[in-house]
Amino acid sequence: MPDTALLPDLALLPAAGLGRVVVVGLGYVGRPLALEAAASGFDVTGFDLDPMAVVAAEAAWRATPPAPGAARLAATVDPGCLPAAETWLICVPTPLDADGRPDLSAVAAALATCRAQIPRGGLACLVSTCQPGATNGLCRRVLERDGWQVGRDVFLAVSPERENPGDAALGPRRIPRLLGAPDDASLLRARRFWDRVTDRVVPVASPEIAECAKLLENTYRLVNIALIDELHRSFAALGVPTRAVVAAASTKPFGFAPFWPGLGAGGHCIPVDPAYLQMEARRAGAPSALLDAALAANRARPGRALAAIAGAFGGSLAGRRILVAGVTYKPDVADLRGAAPVALLHGLRACGAEAAWWDPLVEECPGELAGLPRADDPSGQGWAAPEAIVLGTPHRGLDLAGLARLAPMVFDPFGLVPPDAEGRVRVL
Ligand SMILES: NC(=O)c1ccc[n+]([C@@H]2O[C@H](COP(=O)([O-])OP(=O)(O)OC[C@H]3O[C@@H](n4cnc5c(N)ncnc54)[C@H](O)[C@@H]3O)[C@@H](O)[C@H]2O)c1
Repeated sequence: MPDTALLPDLALLPAAGLGRVVVVGLGYVGRPLALEAAASGFDVTGFDLDPMAVVAAEAAWRATPPAPGAARLAATVDPGCLPAAETWLICVPTPLDADGRPDLSAVAAALATCRAQIPRGGLACLVSTCQPGATNGLCRRVLERDGWQVGRDVFLAVSPERENPGDAALGPRRIPRLLGAPDDASLLRARRFWDRVTDRVVPVASPEIAECAKLLENTYRLVNIALIDELHRSFAALGVPTRAVVAAASTKPFGFAPFWPGLGAGGHCIPVDPAYLQMEARRAGAPSALLDAALAANRARPGRALAAIAGAFGGSLAGRRILVAGVTYKPDVADLRGAAPVALLHGLRACGAEAAWWDPLVEECPGELAGLPRADDPSGQGWAAPEAIVLGTPHRGLDLAGLARLAPMVFDPFGLVPPDAEGRVRVL
């Protein structure tokens, strides 16, 4: 029987001093969540293995004026300094390994850190994206070490993050938060926490529903992005501008959601999360062929662009000076993880092109771009004048019409650069 007597009745507590929270993993998800929990009155300690993540989190928090009633916010790399907090949020990466298989090692390690410190009656909430069954399987196993029982001695929930990077208007408070738990006591305990931190909590009947809903959201996006990227080629062959087609279809008031063409979905979620769903679907004997096709089409998208560029140069890219303008995985963010323009750059180099990159949002030269020359601006200054420019990421404010004037050829996977009289602009 769940021991609800262990539940601190947060509803009866004053607005400040609501208890302690540890956020494990201070990346794109953990950083803003820690800030929001502190702004909601919780005493928050962030924990990350990477000292740079701690420095970045502290800098981000310093740059944000504390909300009225905000509580203490600190960060550390030392697990020995973590308090026995009542609430633990697990926000660590869930990538794919070198063979493309889901890698939950960071979640397991983060939970072990949590288990070592969490007091009896505490809550561990998985925020990272995981496969169905991770909460009731891996998470439960770690928490129940040494005879504890979830729902009686410790509480467990899953609330997958749905953040939209680059969208300042939709922070952790405003996006409805799915919440699933293995038992009623855990759900109640988790709800008491999240009701303080977000405007709308959406409880669901099981952890697996929350896990699958998150994976469905990103699978839906992956499949539709792969579809429009392929149809973009079909529409171009028919001489029809894809963006005009999507804009026209979008006037239908029901049954259609617009997706726009590009160089393929990148980042740490859309090309990755569906593989977590596929892994479990396969294990259950019900894999999705459509999902396999979408994953493969998305992976192949930069290669298809590369082949089209090579075709425009008569089949050989050897010695061609090609500039990729914009290299992040989506507009207006500085994140290079899984970025399709970076894959294209490496492809261009492998084919012998003298490829370089330019991106106003990328200040330092991170590992993904190691060995690739950087141009100071899209005209190629600081580098040899380009023979072709590829629009890699259409950041807001980029002068797209200006790009078309800077090189004899401009390749545009988005259908955004206005065509010119000389026919320099090619759809990719
Ligand atoms: N970034 C997004 O937009 C986004 C959106 C929705 C969901 N998610 C999901 O949220 C989770 C976190 O993503 P992210 O983008 O914040 O990742 P991230 O890589 O930006 O940050 C994760 C942080 O966790 C740290 N870390 C790794 N192992 C650790 C451990 N054992 N203990 C403490 N810290 C550890 C890393 O050093 C890193 O700083 C992933 O599951 C991701 O799929 C991300």
